[in-house]
Amino acid sequence: MKKTIVAIAAAGYFGLSVLAVAGLWFLWYRTGPAPAQPIAFPHTVHAGQLRLPCTHCHAFAGKSRSAGAPPLETCMGCHKTIAVEREEIRKLTRHYEEKRPVRWVRVYALPDFVYFSHKRHVKAGVECAMCHGDVAGMKRIRRVNELVMGWCVSCHAVRGASRDCATCHK
Ligand code: HEC
Ligand code: HEC
Ligand code: HEC
Ligand code: HEC
Ligand code: HEC
Repeated sequence: MKKTIVAIAAAGYFGLSVLAVAGLWFLWYRTGPAPAQPIAFPHTVHAGQLRLPCTHCHAFAGKSRSAGAPPLETCMGCHKTIAVEREEIRKLTRHYEEKRPVRWVRVYALPDFVYFSHKRHVKAGVECAMCHGDVAGMKRIRRVNELVMGWCVSCHAVRGASRDCATCHK
């Protein structure tokens, strides 16, 4: 009797572990990579707790093709006085003082043969979250979409936007 219970428990435990590993793998596979950044910048603090608008830092999202990375002046507006003793802020300050831009690792990038423009989408009222997920809840940015052609085209079909090849392939 005891042996059977132990065997069932063991099997259950083993089964659960396999499920857990498979689940984690699936999640990772589904959601794509979240590369480490040269400075551990938390969107959770800035876009989450502080509720800064996305365009406070990505100032060009509504104005040009690229959303753009913020200049270090934007950061230093606060970090000349906030959390200056922290390691990550010391790194940030060194970059600023030595006029060395931070080389952020790109998370979302299309191949060169595809034409994309933030401006058109932002102007049409497509929210950042539709394409980038719940960024304010991400400590480290994780890619939530594969950026494959089918993804672009299926939203264009739903929203009545152009599906001509030449729209995205100039
Ligand atoms: C509006 C003010 C403001 C701006 C602009 C701002 N930050 Fe912050 N940042 C904060 C506050 C407030 C915290 C939380 C500090 C704390 O935990 O006490 C913080 C925390 C951080 C942390 C985490 C520090 C740690 O180790 O706990 C990093 C890294 C950071 N900011 C980097 C940046 C970078 C890079 C930029 C520019 C792209 C930036 N910040 C722009 C206000 C700002
Ligand atoms: C305080 C400045 C700040 C604010 C506010 C902010 N971001 Fe960022 N964002 C950054 C910095 C710095 C990076 C580069 C480092 C990184 O990837 O974490 C970045 C990276 C990103 C990336 C990845 C870009 C790529 O492909 O490499 C996306 C997507 C993004 N932000 C979306 C958003 C959205 C959506 C919001 C609003 C919910 C937002 N950000 C608010 C500073 C900010
Ligand atoms: C229709 C989908 C879509 C929407 C909406 C969207 N993005 Fe993007 N975003 C992308 C794609 C696709 C890329 C990669 C572009 C490339 O490689 O040319 C990207 C790249 C980025 C980058 C990396 C640097 C850059 O400028 O290309 C940042 C930062 C970013 N987006 C922020 C935002 C913010 C902030 C918003 C909302 C104001 C937003 N995005 C809305 C699809 C979108
Ligand atoms: C969540 C929905 C959504 C996704 C995802 C999306 N788009 Fe769009 N796209 C739109 C809408 C809505 C418009 C129409 C904007 C307008 O009417 O000005 C548009 C317009 C465009 C335009 C301008 C069309 C023109 O007539 O000049 C281009 C280029 C474009 N999208 C490329 C892309 C590419 C490339 C991707 C994938 C990487 C993509 N879009 C993903 C919703 C989306
Ligand atoms: C709304 C934007 C959009 C439209 C419309 C679009 N494409 Fe694409 N296409 C993409 C994106 C994004 C990629 C790159 C990602 C990928 O390979 O899926 C791509 C990739 C491709 C590739 C390369 C595939 C590969 O495996 O390398 C070909 C070929 C292609 N498209 C042909 C077409 C043709 C033909 C049409 C018209 C029937 C078309 N596309 C319409 C966005 C679009």
